[in-house]
Amino acid sequence: MSALDLLFDFLRFPSVSTDPARSGDVAACAEWLSGRLADFGLKVEVHPTRGHPIVVARNEHRPGRRTVLIYGHYDVQPEDPVAEWKSAPFEPVVRDGVIYARGSTDNKGQILAHILGVAATLKATGDLPVNLIFVIEGEEEIGSTHLESFLAAHRDALKCDVIAVSDTGMVAPGAPTFTYGLRGIATMELRVTGPRTDLHSGIFGGAVMNPLTALARLLATLHDGDCRVAVPGFYDAVHALSDWEREAWSRLPLGDERILGLTGAPALVGESGYTTLERTWARPTAEINGIGGGFQGAGSKTVLPREAFAKLSFRLVPDQSPQDILDKVSAHLRAQCPPGVVLDIQSGHSGEPYLTDPHSRFGKAAQRALRRAFGTQDVALIREGGSIPIINTFKRVLGVDTLLLGLALPDCAAHGPNENFPVANFEDGIRLNQALLEELASA
Ligand code: BES
Ligand code: ZN
Repeated sequence: MSALDLLFDFLRFPSVSTDPARSGDVAACAEWLSGRLADFGLKVEVHPTRGHPIVVARNEHRPGRRTVLIYGHYDVQPEDPVAEWKSAPFEPVVRDGVIYARGSTDNKGQILAHILGVAATLKATGDLPVNLIFVIEGEEEIGSTHLESFLAAHRDALKCDVIAVSDTGMVAPGAPTFTYGLRGIATMELRVTGPRTDLHSGIFGGAVMNPLTALARLLATLHDGDCRVAVPGFYDAVHALSDWEREAWSRLPLGDERILGLTGAPALVGESGYTTLERTWARPTAEINGIGGGFQGAGSKTVLPREAFAKLSFRLVPDQSPQDILDKVSAHLRAQCPPGVVLDIQSGHSGEPYLTDPHSRFGKAAQRALRRAFGTQDVALIREGGSIPIINTFKRVLGVDTLLLGLALPDCAAHGPNENFPVANFEDGIRLNQALLEELASA
């Protein structure tokens, strides 16, 4: 079976981890994956969890060799909004050299490239240059709920020298990219309640606090006029950017024009004193992800709603702690809450930021592998604004650093309609895996 046929089979599973109705599809995807890993000669275990299974595979380990753990995920985000897809999300197609399907970039295409790199090396030489462990989970998109306890319970079996992950981006097509930092995340939901029931806004407006007004006033206190987060103490643990980073990032081919084009936003707006890349990679933010309440139907309805809600998330940078930020934001919101309503705050999932030294022994080896696989001299050294919470957990529980060797292009539409992955990136990823294992073996 060709590499592309295998990827298409992988992409046909609607392994949407957040949807309980799809848990059978998620389990079937894990079974399919374990079958392929076994076909390639690896020893495979599928570990059930209270959520979705974790697939672990390894070659024959021999003393005296480096042990490399490659992590990825086989779960995907929901396909909504389905109507905006040009072809069905779980029926992969290639158009103009680009694969379109949910999960093509995030993360099935990228993890399968590693698997096929390993398969090719095993087929050609009968062996790998390292002891290898694949850990491929089904819950990354819902916060890796059961992976931390799995790591803790199998600490000895998962002992390794370094971890490699391809679940981040490249700065441009054909431009090898090494990511040495990720933002962390903290999430919460707010519910503001007022009267017992929805009221007539003519009879009671002016006498009773409107929960939507209260929520709007509350949310407006999150930022000041310079787009800085106005929560007391929010920036206490934040480090200033180093000069080398500011200088290196200013030379990357990622100007504001490109981001305007990618997003379609009329203008770029953010914290003053920082460039767009600095704001998204190395500065923390507060975002309102959803807001609701009151009448949403056609026309007007003169109602004073009984409740309003908002979903918030905060992107964090080293050394901000998710719990500390949730505590500070909660205290701020309670202090700012207008009278006449009750504010309820529920914390959601969170993950720590990650930062590693791009010039470590393994970091340099990874960059040599990137140069070899892409046939170029320059490797872009970047941080990213997105979060992969388990990366910091790897450091905490297994004590090892992670090399982030992403293959996603800026216009890959991960999480959105028409998610895509160029066939060339898939093939580059297969070559990258082969170069990476060789370089890590001798680093
Ligand atoms: N692959 C992404 C993380 C990512 C995105 C890294 C962009 C670098 C650049 C991952 O699958 C993801 O989407 N993570 C979530 C976090 C999770 C806790 C919901 C995110 O960043 O929102
Ligand atoms: Zn994702």
